[in-house]
Amino acid sequence: MCGAVEVVRLTVAPVGRRGHAGPVATTTTRPARVAGTLAIGAAVAVALGVYGRLHQPTFRPITTLGFPDLVSMKVWLGSVAGLLALVQLVSALRLFGHLGSGPAPSWLGTFHRVSGGLAVLVSLPVAYHCLWALGFQYDQPRVLVHSLAGCIFYGAFVAKVLTLHSHMPRWALPVLGGLTFTALVVVVLTSAVWFLTTVGLPGGATY
Ligand code: HEM
Repeated sequence: MCGAVEVVRLTVAPVGRRGHAGPVATTTTRPARVAGTLAIGAAVAVALGVYGRLHQPTFRPITTLGFPDLVSMKVWLGSVAGLLALVQLVSALRLFGHLGSGPAPSWLGTFHRVSGGLAVLVSLPVAYHCLWALGFQYDQPRVLVHSLAGCIFYGAFVAKVLTLHSHMPRWALPVLGGLTFTALVVVVLTSAVWFLTTVGLPGGATY
């Protein structure tokens, strides 16, 4: 085992902002596990970017999911993903005791998971069309930032989900959750918000 043993200690936590004291499990995580999780997330982000460069852009939609055109679908679903990202931020702050007083309601954890899953689900047809129809572009600073943030968003999300299912240091969840949130906000600001504030309401535009 070459000394790479995971140690689980029971300590008595002081009364925290969430109002409970008592024994809690703290873990000493193998550095290899942390490095492996971060490497998988980074590999996902890089793989998306490489695919976006190698794949020949098609400039046509597979589906518009009932929207009048592809740009409308991307702008509106992108905006919904952005709003759900804000819901994630607020619910996470409440769960971690940084917002409001007293313990968080028992349903908030499930709400946070479901709305987070929905944000990723809604983003998928949009990002698929970005990568498949347009590819990873970098001819303007905004477009470069958008393409980079899009790839980082999915890499950070994968690493965050892996973190939830393995014993990781305490910093991992807020750091990866924060990175996932920030990347999605940057993606939406450099695409849907940019479109709505500079071009106007979508409709009639095609690739
Ligand atoms: C996965 C990596 C992604 C890449 C490489 C990528 C790339 C691109 C590119 C090159 C454009 C055209 C920018 C322009 O010329 O104005 C674009 C537009 C756009 N992207 Fe992405 N994107 C990605 C992820 C996402 C995600 C996750 C969302 C939303 C949640 C999103 C939403 C949009 C929207 C709303 C537009 C504007 C509509 C359009 O011009 O097609 N993208 N993307």
